[in-house]
Amino acid sequence: MKILIVGDTHGNVSTIAYIDQWCANHGIDVVFQVGDFGIHWPGQTCRVHQFFHKKARKERPGPTWYTCGGNHDNYVKLEALNASQEKRNVFSNLIEYTDGCYYVKRTESISFDGMSFLFFGGTESTDAAYRTPGLNWWAAETPTEEEFQLLFDNWEKHKPDVIISHEAPTSVRPDRAPGLNPHSGYRTNHTSHHLQRVMELTDHQPTLWFYGHHHSLIQQDHYGTRFQCCGINPPQWTAEKFEGVLLDTETGLISSPFE
Ligand SMILES: [Fe+2]
Repeated sequence: MKILIVGDTHGNVSTIAYIDQWCANHGIDVVFQVGDFGIHWPGQTCRVHQFFHKKARKERPGPTWYTCGGNHDNYVKLEALNASQEKRNVFSNLIEYTDGCYYVKRTESISFDGMSFLFFGGTESTDAAYRTPGLNWWAAETPTEEEFQLLFDNWEKHKPDVIISHEAPTSVRPDRAPGLNPHSGYRTNHTSHHLQRVMELTDHQPTLWFYGHHHSLIQQDHYGTRFQCCGINPPQWTAEKFEGVLLDTETGLISSPFE
């Protein structure tokens, strides 16, 4: 099967609707979104939620979405959804974000077609100083020490084929897209350093690692793992085409669907 993996969408509903329809037209049943999905922000009607709700109500065809969460996602809302869903014992590794759209909890895995994907969202906002806690910034964007420990444990135990994260380890040069500050705290970023540490300590190397946050489509190989940044939607700095990559789970090959 083929899985579409898309970068930061930042709540842009027309982009999300385009990608959803593109998948329906091309027989893609699963989308991974690598954080900064941008849904359920406080004080405003969430058009992304409305889109998914309407799609489900009208039983429109389209893929199921899975996101790892980024640094611009409402973790208070996610925790509230988790609390209500845990009472109903709905899922242990997922939170239903909205209809047909799931947040995969940090350090949890899902599998498709015999390929396992370990999800680990979050990182530090480079502009946190200009944001308001609970309104457009959430402290839980940074994974805790316990979550990094659990990442190591689950990585060793489950030996995932693929990592899905918002941030990349420090050894992966992010090559941030034009317009983003290339020195915006990346080298002293808590999450990237801890990801690097976990990656170096574990004995298992995943084949592939997809990440977001840096808004580029750069591909690099380190430590036997292929790292792929998944772009941004809508594209801000390039020609008017959508950004993302297509993973073939049978071959492990990555291609560019929107070129
Ligand atoms: Fe981000």
